[in-house]
Amino acid sequence: MTDATPGIAPATTDDVVFSVQHVTLRFGGVTSLSDVSLSLNRGEILSIIGPNGAGKTSLFNCLTGVYTPQEGSIIFTPEHGHAVSVVGRKPYKVNRLGVARTFQTSRMFSALTTFENVKIGVESKQHTGAIGAMLRLPRTRREEHESDLKTLELLKFVGLTKRANEISSSLPYGDRRRLEIARALGTNPEVLLLDEPAAGTNPAEKVELAELIRNVRTQLGVTVLLIEHDMKLVMSVAERIIVLNFGQVIAQGSPAEIQRNTVVINAYLGAPDSDEDNGTEAL
Ligand SMILES: Nc1ncnc2c1ncn2[C@@H]1O[C@H](COP(=O)(O)OP(=O)(O)OP(=O)(O)O)[C@@H](O)[C@H]1O
Ligand SMILES: [Mg+2]
Repeated sequence: MTDATPGIAPATTDDVVFSVQHVTLRFGGVTSLSDVSLSLNRGEILSIIGPNGAGKTSLFNCLTGVYTPQEGSIIFTPEHGHAVSVVGRKPYKVNRLGVARTFQTSRMFSALTTFENVKIGVESKQHTGAIGAMLRLPRTRREEHESDLKTLELLKFVGLTKRANEISSSLPYGDRRRLEIARALGTNPEVLLLDEPAAGTNPAEKVELAELIRNVRTQLGVTVLLIEHDMKLVMSVAERIIVLNFGQVIAQGSPAEIQRNTVVINAYLGAPDSDEDNGTEAL
């Protein structure tokens, strides 16, 4: 990896699933991302941290085809397949390549049940068209059965089996966030992007979420990119951390390295005893 920021150690593996090189994203006079270069290695849990407005969600939007940066390249390399540019590709096409995400603010079909919400994610990958569905062709019935099984499997994986038939809007916040993860996993991704999955959850839910994120990687083999303000959660699950500030990468390293990096402490983490509220939970 070529790193744009001096003094920052490059990634240690050649098996890069996402390569971001010199990405700049502007909205009128606002520069959300400024010459950002980073790599996501296959199989790792990488966390992106930084103050509000640092450009974290903008980066996710660039990685998933929602935003098209004015400069730079974003290359996705699936495990079995050729490297492809994500820039200018539509979000649903990026999803088909093997990239799924959850959103900073909860997004689901609130009138549908937990089961139905997850099944929508699963079915987005299937081949049945409207005619097949109307005629109830054998292939359609088989796919329906398969998607039911896969949905149940995912609900079990995220611990929502008992909530399967509940209307999703009635779920506690932590369960909603896990439902969103299950739905994203339903598209069979190689990479899962989580945008503040712990926002609004209580301490017990955060512990469960940390375990779920680890399981996504270890049991499903999915690479995880995690945006999160809760430093306890980040430090407990991330193997590597990249810090954004004012749209720039200001540091990257292991959790231990980031916690003692004075640039990061000054920009975001604050001193360990500081009472200052910077949107970050105590380490
Ligand atoms: N669609 C948009 N139009 C205009 N400005 C935008 C747009 N999307 C993002 N920005 C701006 O880009 C900057 C970075 O925003 P972004 O949402 O990426 O930050 P963030 O790091 O995710 O912050 P937070 O921690 O609060 O979620 C902000 O100044 C924001 O106002
Ligand atoms: Mg954000």
